[in-house]
Formats: sequence, C-alpha cells, structure tokens
Amino acid sequence: MGLTTGVALAYLGHKVVGVDKDPSKIALLSKGKSPIHEPGIEELLVEIKREQLTFTEDTAAAVRDAELIMIAVGTPAKANGEADTSYVEAAAEEVAQSIEEGKRYILVVKSTVPIGTNRRVSHVIEQVLKKRGIQAHVYLASNPEFLREGLALRDTFYPDRIVVGSESPEAVEALRRLYRPILEQTFNPPGFLPRPESYDLPPLITTDPTSAEMIKYAANACLALKISFINEIAGLCEKVGADVVEVARGIGLDARIGPAFLGAGIGWGGSCFPKDTAALLAMGREYNYAMPIVAAAREVNWRQRERVIEKLQSALKVLRGSVIGVLGLAFKPGTDDVRESPAIDVVRLLLERGAHVRVHDPVAVENARKELGSRVEYYDNVYELARDADALVLATEWSQYFDLDFAELAGRMRQKVFVDGRNIFTPSEVTRWGFIYMGMGR
Ligand code: UGA
Repeated sequence: MGLTTGVALAYLGHKVVGVDKDPSKIALLSKGKSPIHEPGIEELLVEIKREQLTFTEDTAAAVRDAELIMIAVGTPAKANGEADTSYVEAAAEEVAQSIEEGKRYILVVKSTVPIGTNRRVSHVIEQVLKKRGIQAHVYLASNPEFLREGLALRDTFYPDRIVVGSESPEAVEALRRLYRPILEQTFNPPGFLPRPESYDLPPLITTDPTSAEMIKYAANACLALKISFINEIAGLCEKVGADVVEVARGIGLDARIGPAFLGAGIGWGGSCFPKDTAALLAMGREYNYAMPIVAAAREVNWRQRERVIEKLQSALKVLRGSVIGVLGLAFKPGTDDVRESPAIDVVRLLLERGAHVRVHDPVAVENARKELGSRVEYYDNVYELARDADALVLATEWSQYFDLDFAELAGRMRQKVFVDGRNIFTPSEVTRWGFIYMGMGR
C-alpha cells in the first residue's frame, strides 16, 4: 500500500520520498525494481523521473522537509486477533523526533488501525515534542486505503471513493489538494492503465477520524461476509443440486446486491480480510459487544478449506499416499502474496492427512517455500506436475490456468479427479475428458 501510494502520487506530479527500514528494499527500489509482485509498479518506477521519487532509510531526512507525511506501516495481528499498532506508534515517534521547530506538517495515518489510534498517534507526537521542548504544528488525518493487491494501481488511480477523517480543516484541505488529480481525473493515465470508460469522478468523504477508521474495517468485513454468504449458499446448492455460479449471477444482477465478491470458492485469504475481521472481533470483545455475523463469516471461510479435503476424500477414498497437485499458491491471482492463502491452508490439510503434495504457481513459489519448505514438491510445469497424480485442485484462478489442456492432463494422470476451487470451468469442459469434476457449490 505504501509503495503503490508513493508511486502513484509521484506519477501525479508530487515529489515523494519513500522510507523503509529494510535496506534491501531501498536498494531494489532505487534500482527501479519492486520488492513485491504488483502489476504496473515496475513500469512506473522506470517512467517516473528520478527527482519525483526517491527512496531512503533515513526517516529524519525525509520528514524534515515534507509537507505531508503518510504512515503506511503494517498492523499485524496479535495472538488474540487485535491489530498491533506498535509500528504505527514507533513511526509516529520517529516522525515527531524528526520534525523541525515552528514548521507545519500534515500527518496522515493510512495503515489500517483500530479505533482510537489517531488519538494515540496525536498523543505520541505531543509527548515527543514536549520532551524535545519544541513547538510545531502537526495536523492529523486518517485516510484509509481500499486498494486490492494485484489491482493496486488501478484502485489508486480510479478509486470508488476517498475517505478522510480529521478534526483539522488544514489536513482535509491538504489531502484534497494532494488527491485533486484523482478527484478531478485530470492526469494522463499510464499507457497500460487507461481510465475505465464508465468511470465516474470519485467522491471525497470527509468525516471524523473514528468513523474513518471504522469505514475501513466495515468495508473489509462486509466484502468478506459477502463471499462467506455465497460460500454458505454454495454448500446448500451442492446438497439440493443447484449451481452456485448461476445463483450468484441471478442475485448479483439485483442492483441492491451487486455482482462483485460473489465468487464462491475455497474462501478468502490475504493480509487484510482475515486480519481485519479478527481485529473487529477483538474490538467487539473490548467493548463487550458480540459480533456473530463477522464471527460466522470467518467460520464459513475456514469450512471452505475443509470442503476441499472432503471432496477429495469422497472421490479418492484414501488420501494417505495419494498424489495431489495444487495449482496456485498465492491468496489470489496477480500477487506473490501467500499470507493466509486458502491454497496454502489446503496444502497443509492435505499434508496432515498424509498426501503427497505437488504445487505450482506462476509467481508465488518463492514466498510459498518459506511456508511449506521441502514438505511439498515444486513444479514449473503443470503437465509435469500432473504425471501420475491422483487429483488436481485449482486453488488460485491465475489466467494461465483458464486454458488448461484437459486432454493432455487426462493422458498423464493416474486418476482423473479435478477440484475446481474457484469455479472457473464449465463442468462439461472437464468431464468430457473423463474427469470427475467437483466445483464449489455446483
Ligand atoms: C482487500 C479489499 O478488497 C481492499 O478493498 C482492501 O483495501 C484490502 O483488502 C486491504 O485492506 O488492504 P485484497 O486482500 O488485496 O483486498 O484482495 P481481494 O481482491 O479483496 O480478495 C481477498 C480474498 O477474497 C482473496 O483470497 C480472493 O480470492 C477472495 N475472493 C474475492 C473470493 O473468494 N471471492 C470473490 O468473489 C472475491
């Protein structure tokens, strides 16, 4: 999120300095290389002029001359699900140590932070300034981010809305100025990312910091539960003989429901939905307020992973010793991120049951290796992976899997079992080659 935002703002003409503690990331970025797989980032790193975008480990130097400072550090989950804001507070402290007497700064919290973090940040800044015995004006704002991994630049240049929560008119005005090219769509789109034809100008929602913080959690929880809802319906579709893909289409055309995030499958993962729904539950506990809907969304989501194992058991009977190929390891296509990936969970469940697991992913293997080590076999080629396998599970819907050659796969496999964990195929395309096809809710 920090990298995408920095790159996008520099592209829009602002002068941006990106700060990170990790020297290897700074070294890569300074050479125009991205430390993560995110479409378009490297193209823009090369295109943006040097003086517009630089990277450094030196917070003080970056902060001193800045007008606007964004904190975009991680807020990982603690063991009890609560979001850990210590990096945000540490960043705020460093910022306060670096600002100059008498100057004016806008400090923006972009990280996803629990309710009240803005106040804590403000307290940290005050304390440090007091200790340093200096005065400076620091205007705070909460500016949550709604970009998706894999589509991060698209979501940044063409957002549905921009949310700013602040008690300070100075901060709101500064952010309005910062985002003006996006709010008014006055920039020239990057060649690879044209403005969508039906795109309307995004509204700027200005609110109080607490509501802004809540908007972020509520948005992610709402999206997560929309997916869990369709996954729950998917299970019932299987029992009654309906096809959830048809059902999702049928309900998604209702404008009140909408078609997005109704893709049934092995469930949601990533660094956001799992963490943010857990943090919401933790906030509920803190306020002694039960949140059964969010809790149920998480339960259903975990059950989807187990559904894959049940399907394989029903087809193969014995998983111990079976050779299972898992296609896709990233938590979704377009990223090399495997955090909380449903694919990785399915692999783990299979390993626990004694299966031999072979895996393939176009970009996430390096990250997956850190999770799975040598307990699985890594393949560069799907058809090699399929040789003498008993079943294949499509876990991440990478575009290259859409044109799998099932005739070729059928000729190579020991048993022809295919679990379409993302419902990307028409069942008959697969069964015509002699496969047992099992989708999620069809
Ligand atoms: C999510 C939100 O969509 C962003 O708006 C938000 O900014 C971001 O979290 C964040 O808080 O930083 P992201 O986690 O990158 O973005 O990915 P999504 O596209 O939302 O997908 C999340 C998971 O849901 C993936 O595992 C995906 O496979 C799954 N999914 C998505 C489904 O199972 N079905 C669907 O129909 C859509």
